[in-house]
Amino acid sequence: MAAPGRNQGLSGNGTIAILGAGSMGQLWAGYLPTGTVTFVPRREVTPETGKSALSYTFQPFEGPEVVVTVPYLLATEARPPLLMVTTKAGDTLDAVESNLHYVSPDTPIVLFQNGMGCQQAVAERWPQRPILAASTTEGANRPTPGCTVHAGKGETWVGPLTGSATTHLRQVVTALGTSGLTVHAAQDIHRRLWDKLIINAGINAFTAILDCPNGDILTDPFYLEHIDELCDEIAKVMKGDTEEALPSITIRERIEMIARKTARNTSSMRSDRQRGRPTEIDFINGYIVRRGHELGVDVPTNQMLTNRIKQLLP
Ligand SMILES: NC(=O)c1ccc[n+]([C@@H]2O[C@H](COP(=O)([O-])OP(=O)(O)OC[C@H]3O[C@@H](n4cnc5c(N)ncnc54)[C@H](OP(=O)(O)O)[C@@H]3O)[C@@H](O)[C@H]2O)c1
Repeated sequence: MAAPGRNQGLSGNGTIAILGAGSMGQLWAGYLPTGTVTFVPRREVTPETGKSALSYTFQPFEGPEVVVTVPYLLATEARPPLLMVTTKAGDTLDAVESNLHYVSPDTPIVLFQNGMGCQQAVAERWPQRPILAASTTEGANRPTPGCTVHAGKGETWVGPLTGSATTHLRQVVTALGTSGLTVHAAQDIHRRLWDKLIINAGINAFTAILDCPNGDILTDPFYLEHIDELCDEIAKVMKGDTEEALPSITIRERIEMIARKTARNTSSMRSDRQRGRPTEIDFINGYIVRRGHELGVDVPTNQMLTNRIKQLLP
């Protein structure tokens, strides 16, 4: 275990900074060794102003719940050796931009967003910086204010998006691994992001439109009417985007295997709908629509799902 205030494998001895103190951010902060992590506050915190730490109850996947207290990153001391970005996809570009002033040009930045598009936007905006993406199947939620639950145990893959990120990959994986969560290096993170995108594109919008848990879509006429065309479109866009050809029947099997495995779960998009919050549709089916148009692939089913979600949540 790392000594407090130090992070194994990363240069410098500051604390890992987490930008986005929501479910994902609090999950990682709950597992990373005490004293090695800070949250980036929404507004500047100085010793004289503001609250200096965020406390919450954390229910790990196993074992008793604990109270976690994570200090806020002080503007005066900020020089984190690693920035973990756990904002929603739609907030990510702006959130990174407004925090880069204290992040050294050679500090790795790891993006944890679901879907696709915002990671590429960050990498394209700062191509010289070491930008990495993480694809995770860990699941966390906040059933009540001040309480974060590690609801589903999974794995995390991290890989480089920019050239200079490659040399940081091993240290980043080591540092994230001090959490005790399972973390792997993935040279081809783009493909890993696609693996997750397939599942999200096939489950999330249906559950939000039908307002049902994941497993219930499988017998719903609306899902059954559209799933084959949806998988066809995904297969064609994926092939153009990654050069990997996955038969649409395999895509459907993957979607349905996860929908069965997580049958009683509420997807993040359904949860966003229930709470009236913006969804990540633009980075899931909406991304497939944009890439489809760029690649000359017709994507009417992805477009229909995107439109339906936007009608529900303007
Ligand atoms: N939760 C999961 O199980 C899970 C699993 C896999 C992937 N993911 C992905 O991880 C990402 C985060 O998901 P989440 O569930 O953690 O969402 P979340 O609970 O909504 O957390 C996002 C956090 O980011 C904060 N934030 C937004 N803009 C900010 C800014 N400019 N400066 C500082 N903080 C800012 C938000 O603050 P406010 O609340 O004040 O807006 C919120 O606390 C999403 O892309 C999601 O798809 C989540």
